[in-house]
Amino acid sequence: MSFKVIGTGTCLPQKVVTNDDLSEFVDTSDEWIFPRTGIKRRHVCTTETLDDLAISAAQKAVEMSGIDPGQIGLVVCSTTSSDHPIPSVACVVAGSLGIECPAYDVYIACSGFVHGLEIADGYFARGRAKYALVLSAEKCTRLVDWSDRSTCVLFGDGAGAAVIEATDDESLPMRGWTKAGFELTLPGQPSKSPYDQHPADYGDSLAMNGRAIFRFAVKAINKEVKALAAEAGIDYHDIDHYIFHQANERILSFAVDHLGIDNDKVVRTIQETGNISSACIPIAMDKLNREGKLHDGDLLCLVGFGGGLSVGSCLIRWQS
Ligand code: COA
Repeated sequence: MSFKVIGTGTCLPQKVVTNDDLSEFVDTSDEWIFPRTGIKRRHVCTTETLDDLAISAAQKAVEMSGIDPGQIGLVVCSTTSSDHPIPSVACVVAGSLGIECPAYDVYIACSGFVHGLEIADGYFARGRAKYALVLSAEKCTRLVDWSDRSTCVLFGDGAGAAVIEATDDESLPMRGWTKAGFELTLPGQPSKSPYDQHPADYGDSLAMNGRAIFRFAVKAINKEVKALAAEAGIDYHDIDHYIFHQANERILSFAVDHLGIDNDKVVRTIQETGNISSACIPIAMDKLNREGKLHDGDLLCLVGFGGGLSVGSCLIRWQS
């Protein structure tokens, strides 16, 4: 039992903010941001809600798949930046498609899309669904402190989605692990309880130790590519497309150098979008798909990493 991707979709907010735009109100510059991160611009929500992005990306993926939405047996949405934990974004998306299957969010930061695929794969294995909609929607710009130049320049907003179909092919490896740590933190709502004696431990915005996460990310990509290939019994150089989380161009370049892989096989969206947390991977996959770069039989390697700290990775055989 395995699955194939039959539809992909992306939605990015209309407004584009360049590095020069940021330098008008934060002490930063394109000369600092671009060489250290690879980011030139990012899309930022203004009138769009996170639900709008999620619904639009999902609709595009369903439309490409050609299936009737009623055939979808599961909706999983990865997000850590939704405007409302209840209802889940997945419930909102399911409602917009007019379907009543199980629908819920996963909350595991930048590796969430891959974990969503693994959850769907489990539904397929138990015969609980034939089709699943797996998506990621993130509005990171609502979480950052816009006066903190070390974080606000890195992130953007957007959503990516995939419709997947169960197949009888042999399973390819999927992996996931965590290394609990507080290198990246995001506070929840302040407690309203009169009994609660915990202060707001994590401040009021997304915070991180950039250097620690950088090191973790480079090691994680290296480890996952080799482990997936070993589990599949292949040489990782035979992988056709590497779709890594887009946190920093330098992380991607390090991975290319460490692994000795073909730079052109590593998809990039970071320059145009910045880091959109878990939405980066489905957006990058949709980009490759819509540019006609994915061919029947191609092997894709997905590696997501980030807050938690968490990692999710898998191999996917593309079928057209
Ligand atoms: N513009 C100008 N200067 C900046 C700046 C900005 N946007 N951000 C930080 N600086 C300054 C710092 O204040 C510091 O100045 P100081 O030496 O006078 O104190 C200097 O640049 C170096 O800061 P540092 O944080 O050490 O830079 P770095 O080389 O580690 O790069 C990151 C910072 C965030 C780009 C890099 O660590 C990174 O990308 N890490 C991964 C983070 C990530 O992707 N997180 C999400 C994972 S899902």
